[in-house]
Amino acid sequence: MRLVILGAPGAGKGTQASRLATYFNCPHVSTGEIFRRAIKDQTRLGKEADFHISKGQLVPDDITIELVEQRIEEPDSQFGFILDGYPRTPNQAIGLDDILRQKSLCLDAAIHLDLSEKEIYRRLGNRRVCTICGAIYHLDSLPPKHPGLCDRCGSPLVQREDDHLDTIKARLVVYRQMTKPVLSYYKNRGTLLVIDGEGDIDKVFKTIINSLETRSLKTNDCH
Ligand code: AP5
Ligand code: MG
Ligand code: ZN
Repeated sequence: MRLVILGAPGAGKGTQASRLATYFNCPHVSTGEIFRRAIKDQTRLGKEADFHISKGQLVPDDITIELVEQRIEEPDSQFGFILDGYPRTPNQAIGLDDILRQKSLCLDAAIHLDLSEKEIYRRLGNRRVCTICGAIYHLDSLPPKHPGLCDRCGSPLVQREDDHLDTIKARLVVYRQMTKPVLSYYKNRGTLLVIDGEGDIDKVFKTIINSLETRSLKTNDCH
């Protein structure tokens, strides 16, 4: 399965991508997570990414496209991947198409998780993430079993640096200006699946799986 997960900040991309990766047994590739790891490791990529991410801006296309190209060349991506947070600009969507075309591959679907801004603020304000494995929690809807500690690996949970009100606002502006056109790009290709992101985590997951099953009965631009 080759999927792209699109949606505003806080729409649930990481939460659903992680479950989809387990379900379809393929890697969950989150560009945001790759950048955060590089920032933590203080690599050159990390320093460049931090400069943009801390302001809620996008990391430049040339860096991001190359990064994803390398990641989907890796052996674990050969039979599928769940791309979370990429593509985020029309240029990145074209970049992804180029990479796939060279390999005679295609996307199964681009999934848009649709969520109201009110709910976005509620979700991001109370999100906590694991500093080591990247697991995602929410103080109300998905609290950890032991406060402040990751269920999976026991490491401390933190609030993301870009989850402060001003940065959330900046990320939403960038989403409207730069990423919304990507939705039209996939809509025009007939690959877009719009999913209501408002229900609880299990309900949204089931809706995605049902839509993919219905979709696989129809033809898409792969065939
Ligand atoms: P990235 O890490 O991708 O951030 P984002 O797009 O802003 O999205 P988030 O991770 O904040 O939200 P999400 O949709 O994953 O929601 P989550 O599942 O956590 O990117 C960060 C930055 O990196 C960008 O701003 C940019 O600078 C840079 N970057 C990344 N990719 C790039 C690219 N391609 N090009 C250029 N720059 C790039 O859920 C949110 C919360 O809600 C959690 O607490 C969760 O537990 C909870 N929740 C989830 N689903 C539900 C539900 N159904 N019901 C109740 N609670 C729920
Ligand atoms: Mg995420
Ligand atoms: Zn963890």
